[in-house]
Amino acid sequence: MSPNAGPIILGIESSCDETAAAVLVNGVVRSNVIAGQEVHRQWGGVVPELASRAHQEHIVPVVDRALKEAGVKLQDLDAIAFTQGPGLIGALLVGTCFARSMAQALSIPLIAVDHVRAHALAHFIRDGEERPVPTFPFLNLTVSGGHTRIVRVDSPLLMTVLGGTLDDAAGEAFDKGAKMLGLPYPGGPLIDRHARDGDPQRFTLPRPAITGYDMSFSGLKTAFKDLVRKGTEQDPGFVERELPHLCATLQRSIVDILLRKLSKAAREQDIPRIALAGGVSANSALRQGTLDLAAREGWEAFIPPFAYCTDNAAMIAMAGHFLHLEGGHAGLDVVPLARTEG
Ligand code: KG4
Ligand code: ZN
Repeated sequence: MSPNAGPIILGIESSCDETAAAVLVNGVVRSNVIAGQEVHRQWGGVVPELASRAHQEHIVPVVDRALKEAGVKLQDLDAIAFTQGPGLIGALLVGTCFARSMAQALSIPLIAVDHVRAHALAHFIRDGEERPVPTFPFLNLTVSGGHTRIVRVDSPLLMTVLGGTLDDAAGEAFDKGAKMLGLPYPGGPLIDRHARDGDPQRFTLPRPAITGYDMSFSGLKTAFKDLVRKGTEQDPGFVERELPHLCATLQRSIVDILLRKLSKAAREQDIPRIALAGGVSANSALRQGTLDLAAREGWEAFIPPFAYCTDNAAMIAMAGHFLHLEGGHAGLDVVPLARTEG
């Protein structure tokens, strides 16, 4: 460990379609570099094989830039943290092999990070901006294109999954709904934008009746598809005319499902701290809904800056930082995992 300053951790993320690298010095971001993959746009979703190839192309320049921007030399690093899973296995393999080789070449510890857990630790990333940090325990709603979970966080290393989606992730529900409206991938941000001019009460969509903290979006998806199909049968210009209202209705339904469960968990677990993480936490209705819920109930709400909500390597390095302090190192024979326990 470097004297005084605390550990210098390189984080590497390659679980889906972003190749990312970040350097954290004692939990403070020195660099946070992301290379997205435009190649998937034309296919309307992430193509795993193309993702792996793009990771292979990007990983060296991305890590190189992260080190340069941080002003950190290879020999300054104390440990390398990488996303072990969950994610696309071919994509994960690129980051895992790269991190393994680098740790071996530098003779420094390797840290295997669970991507979904890392999302919940994004709240602790420091970058010079003053922000409230949740105290433990808190409830984190992790919502992205790949995952939707409510996690009870008792410490950086002690998390319990209370519930999650039984089918699609919340981001998928946004993206699939957007596709039905003819919007390009990823449609989530576009739904958000159009919804601003729409009336969320114009149409009615069902809410799933699931007990506990689990959620489901497939019934909503089918109902939305029917709504669009029937409307278009009667009037070919239906989607164009009703676009803002369709977006607002879908958005309201997804956000309702998420916030009802988060609210239920906070009440029943008696934890007055709710937090968001993951790409969907960029959604303006979800952000506002979370803040309103907390204000109504007298709870605290925490939403990290957007750069740490979407897939990024700063959160991987942050999770790595906590694991490093506890000696949570991996062997050089560590393998990627498409699925993790959470
Ligand atoms: O965390 P993330 O960057 O990657 C995954 O791990 O999946 O999340 C991406 C997801 C996509 O489904 C995207 O449509 C959704 O987050 N998303 C949004 C918004 N911004 C991103 N969904 C709704 N409203 C937004 N403003
Ligand atoms: Zn993610």
